[in-house]
Amino acid sequence: MMKSRVLITGIKGFTGNYLSSYLQEKDYEVWGLGRNELSALPHSSVCMHYADICSPEEITKVLEECQPDVIYHLAAQSSVGLSWEKPALTMKVNLEGTINLLETVRKLQLSSRILLIGSGEEYGPVESLELPINEEKSPNPQNPYSLSKYFQTLVGMQYFHSYGMNIFFARAFNHTGPGQTRGFVVPDFASQVAAIEAGLQEAVINVGNLSAQRDFSDVRDVVQAYWQIVEQGKPGTIYNVGSGRAIPIQTILDQLLLLSSKSIKIEIDTKKFRPVDVPIIYASISKLYEETGWQPYIELQDTLKDTLEYWRNEIKRGL
Ligand code: GDD
Repeated sequence: MMKSRVLITGIKGFTGNYLSSYLQEKDYEVWGLGRNELSALPHSSVCMHYADICSPEEITKVLEECQPDVIYHLAAQSSVGLSWEKPALTMKVNLEGTINLLETVRKLQLSSRILLIGSGEEYGPVESLELPINEEKSPNPQNPYSLSKYFQTLVGMQYFHSYGMNIFFARAFNHTGPGQTRGFVVPDFASQVAAIEAGLQEAVINVGNLSAQRDFSDVRDVVQAYWQIVEQGKPGTIYNVGSGRAIPIQTILDQLLLLSSKSIKIEIDTKKFRPVDVPIIYASISKLYEETGWQPYIELQDTLKDTLEYWRNEIKRGL
């Protein structure tokens, strides 16, 4: 039997790498789209292509050749922090990139199923009575990143309704694990703890806003949710992907510090504060569970342990 062929855009990113291994284990033929050849291929058996997600010509070439059964669209500028510094770039990659991808699929008349990755940040600040937040809640994005993801959702819905394209929607809350780059809270903290342990940083950890509360999952659970949405979910329907509970950033920090034998001081760096930071948000994941049976399995404690261990090795390698 012919293997099903999937294309993962942003395959070299944090989540793309995990999704690629996950789908290969499930015996899919995995094609990958990356921006450039600078970093190593995620897995040697991936059929890699390089293109600018915003270039109609380049994406047409890749899709003509690949003709994927499924496209997992992970290519994005995914840092909320960076989006405050680079709003135009964030909007370009996340919105124009998605429009270009959908428009190319449409013009080539491919019947690929396409998964778009939205964000829990699209909801913006919510009243405590509305928590856990479900998919019925109207988004109210309040930073450049969440705005770009909300626009992406609207565009995806428009393509779904106007052309009947097979578009699926994950609305992902925070996810982390080994391999996530600095710029997100867990790697920002874990990399500093590892550097302090290695004697490369004075025993003071720099942190931003510790009072925010977020819904954290392990990336290894999240890629399974993405697969289940495409295989068992309904197109044109948004599915929250999260853990269903909120964790204060202070608790993340405390747990990481407990995993280290070093005595570490905490320094609040107000430069890391954002103009607006949603105080608390967590997902209702009932819809995804009811329709696909998905639920997260990995405990946050294990995710943090594995991530700290990853950073200890990275720091040893001089990274
Ligand atoms: N990055 C970072 N670094 N955040 C910090 C730090 C720090 O040193 N200290 C405190 N924070 C706080 C931020 O202010 C925010 O309230 C929280 O930690 C989480 O920040 P991030 O890890 O940068 O994630 P995010 O919640 O802004 O966005 C993530 O989750 C979204 C879904 O909810 C990203 O993964 C997005 O791509 C994703 O869509």
